[in-house]
Amino acid sequence: MLADKDRIFQNLYGTGDWRLAGARSRGAWDQTKSLIDKGRDWIINEVKESGLRGRGGAGFPTGLKWSFMPKESDGRPHYLVVNADESEPGTCKDREIMRHDPHLLIEGCLLASFAMAAHTAYIYVRGEFIHERKRLQAAVDEAYEANLIGKNNIHGWDFDLYVHHGAGAYICGEETALLESLEGRKGQPRLKPPFPANCGLYGAPTTVNNVESIAVAPDILRRGASWFSGLGKPNNTGTKLFCISGHVNSPCNVEEEMGIPLRELIDKHAGGVRGGWDNLLAVIPGGASVPCLPATTCQNLPMDFDTLRDLKSGLGTAAVIVMDKSTDIIRAIARLSYFYKHESCGQCTPCREGTGWMWRVLDRMARGQAEVREIDMLLDVTYQVEGHTICALGDAAAWPVQGLIRHFRHVIEERIESYSANPKPDEAPVLAEASQ
Ligand SMILES: Cc1cc2nc3c(=O)[nH]c(=O)nc-3n(C[C@H](O)[C@H](O)[C@H](O)COP(=O)(O)O)c2cc1C
Ligand code: SF4
Repeated sequence: MLADKDRIFQNLYGTGDWRLAGARSRGAWDQTKSLIDKGRDWIINEVKESGLRGRGGAGFPTGLKWSFMPKESDGRPHYLVVNADESEPGTCKDREIMRHDPHLLIEGCLLASFAMAAHTAYIYVRGEFIHERKRLQAAVDEAYEANLIGKNNIHGWDFDLYVHHGAGAYICGEETALLESLEGRKGQPRLKPPFPANCGLYGAPTTVNNVESIAVAPDILRRGASWFSGLGKPNNTGTKLFCISGHVNSPCNVEEEMGIPLRELIDKHAGGVRGGWDNLLAVIPGGASVPCLPATTCQNLPMDFDTLRDLKSGLGTAAVIVMDKSTDIIRAIARLSYFYKHESCGQCTPCREGTGWMWRVLDRMARGQAEVREIDMLLDVTYQVEGHTICALGDAAAWPVQGLIRHFRHVIEERIESYSANPKPDEAPVLAEASQ
């Protein structure tokens, strides 16, 4: 287990004071000026050396991303935009940072913005996070009052931080849709290139980072890159917030070392699988969009980016959704398909049409009202959607279905056979809309 001394989020459960005084007592805003005095290149190199990979889902190296920003302004301002849209089902870590340790995020915004020569940062908060937004705004106000940020602040880098409240759309978590929304337009992803580092918010160089990626930066800089990279394993370093939900005895968020075995994570922190480990059916290891893994692969499963990618799944946001043997896995994945169909922004045909198509077929399959040959047809459609869309929502919709077919094809086949032997045409669809 991660030693207490290595925890970054010491107030994850809100047992301490979230305000400035409490944050300071836990080490926030300590030596910030001396970190800034070491210069931009030092900060970016230190974050690179730490091995930090983005915590928003894709795991892109954070220091490298920061280095893509132009070194000097060509007259346009630079922006940091923090993605606090957190809408991936199963994921509930950024909201805890915002309500219990907001100063870590604010200090991280200052340091990251300085490193990228940005005088302005925006935090885009999910529409449903009203309490979190108020808490965050109160902490930002405190930081202004204490002259930690703002014009002529004590750190010598003029810096304004704005908290922006979204309207509650999953697609606004996609970084370019987020920028569109921030600019006041409909939240629809942009075609890339150009990438935000060249042409982002208001056409200016912009970096978009997840809340957790930014909130861990001050500790990395204070404690040193080697401390962070000494945790976990190469290319998968540091600590990570895991969100454990579903069929466990005590669902929770916990900060742990990257690469912790899944079983240890569930047994030590979430009270074990409901009904015991042998009652485990499957796990979705990284938020709704990553393919599920069957219990047989979960016994000795290190929770890190590379291991899970090699198993054709992903660490994603490290939101672990546990399903015991009472789960109807086809219905569960059909429900996720419905989510992606509902959240598709509709710009690209494979996503707009494919998400609805996949959901409708899965919904029939959940009831057994399908033909066995349709399983391969469904799989084929997932490959037609994956990689053929403007943004990764198409992939996110395809992957759970691929995971289902890869590991639970036999369950679909049995369902279809059992329905053909005993048809029940009136069985309720997964969602009422299915009947439309
Ligand atoms: C449909 C969709 C939704 C996303 N939602 C979020 C989100 O809620 N929060 C987030 O940080 N990243 C989200 N992302 C990823 C962002 O596009 C982007 O990669 C991320 O904010 C970069 O931050 P990082 O490098 O610190 O991980 C989403 C991506 C897609 C395709
Ligand atoms: S993949 Fe889906 S959500 Fe993304 S831009 Fe295309 S239609 Fe919109």
